[in-house]
Amino acid sequence: MLRARILATGSYLPENIVTNQDLENIVDTTDDWITDRTGIKERRIVSDGQAASDLAFEASLAALKKAQLKPKDIDLIIVATVTGDMPFPSTACLLQAKLGAKNAAAFDLGAACSGFIYGLHVANGLIRSGMHQRVLVVGAEVLSKFTDWQDRSTCILFGDGAGAVILEPTKEKHGIWSTHIYSDGNLSDLIMLPGGGSHAACSRETILKRLHLIKMKGNETFKVAVRTLEELASDTLEKNNLDPAQLSLLIPHQANLRIIQATAKRLGMPMEKVFLNIQKYGNTSAASVPIALDEAVDAGRVKDGDYILLEAFGGGLTWASALLRW
Ligand code: COA
Repeated sequence: MLRARILATGSYLPENIVTNQDLENIVDTTDDWITDRTGIKERRIVSDGQAASDLAFEASLAALKKAQLKPKDIDLIIVATVTGDMPFPSTACLLQAKLGAKNAAAFDLGAACSGFIYGLHVANGLIRSGMHQRVLVVGAEVLSKFTDWQDRSTCILFGDGAGAVILEPTKEKHGIWSTHIYSDGNLSDLIMLPGGGSHAACSRETILKRLHLIKMKGNETFKVAVRTLEELASDTLEKNNLDPAQLSLLIPHQANLRIIQATAKRLGMPMEKVFLNIQKYGNTSAASVPIALDEAVDAGRVKDGDYILLEAFGGGLTWASALLRW
């Protein structure tokens, strides 16, 4: 059976570090509160002039280097982002130009924090059908530019970054075994960026009402995320006839340490088998899973034949998982 496998991974994090202590100087919060409630200690923030396509470019170059491929070898680029450079052209097209990937079609995919796994789902389908051969899937976000730095309940959570993978077809058992994507638009008001689109086009009023910045009902989102992810992880293993004990590594979306712990507990997985970097980067939305995957590969946490579960939850609402055999 033809399936897609991950040939190489790459990631890029901006250099600027913003610690919890730095945030204590901006809003009424403490390092202890942020650490206890989220697990986050610091996050990366872009420099002036750095946009999503710049982060995507660096992550893609890293993946191409590891794959020993040239940009012209890629025939499709999917960029998962909700903080792209501009409404159009797509960030994927801007990335295509930066890379010089002249043989690639390119489009953006918007599924918030689940976007990267949605991208894997699409790429996997296109590769399985034989329509594409080498697909670059990137998660790239610059949430800092859409964060309300006066809102202590959200500004402590987010960070910037990008992660990338290159997929190619394989007939071997290694690769993407299954992907699962879901949504519930009835809960769209839990996390949203209401202004700047055709619903409330950018105006003096939208800016005064701060509609161009992220709004989130944190506590409600938290509860839905825990419930949904626990079920998603178990279902994904069941659909692949796998027992949680057979899983070598869980790579969850890095949104909140307590959400991650709840998912691991439900699966009966020890935290040693869960990859965490939330303490360093916070929630980087669609970039979080590919950054974590790249770091797990580089740290030698992913070995030949391992079963790995990726999962994410985000605005939309959307949620998604992927079961990989490395
Ligand atoms: N520092 C100190 N106090 C803060 C604070 C901060 N940064 N942010 C909120 N608080 C206060 C609130 O004002 C509230 O005070 P009150 O009881 O006097 O009203 C109190 O802390 C509790 O707020 P609550 O929102 O119930 O906290 P929580 O335990 O739910 O934690 C989040 C808040 C945002 C950390 C948590 O809800 C969360 O992580 N939610 C999921 C978010 C998420 O993952 N979103 C993305 C999904 S992809």
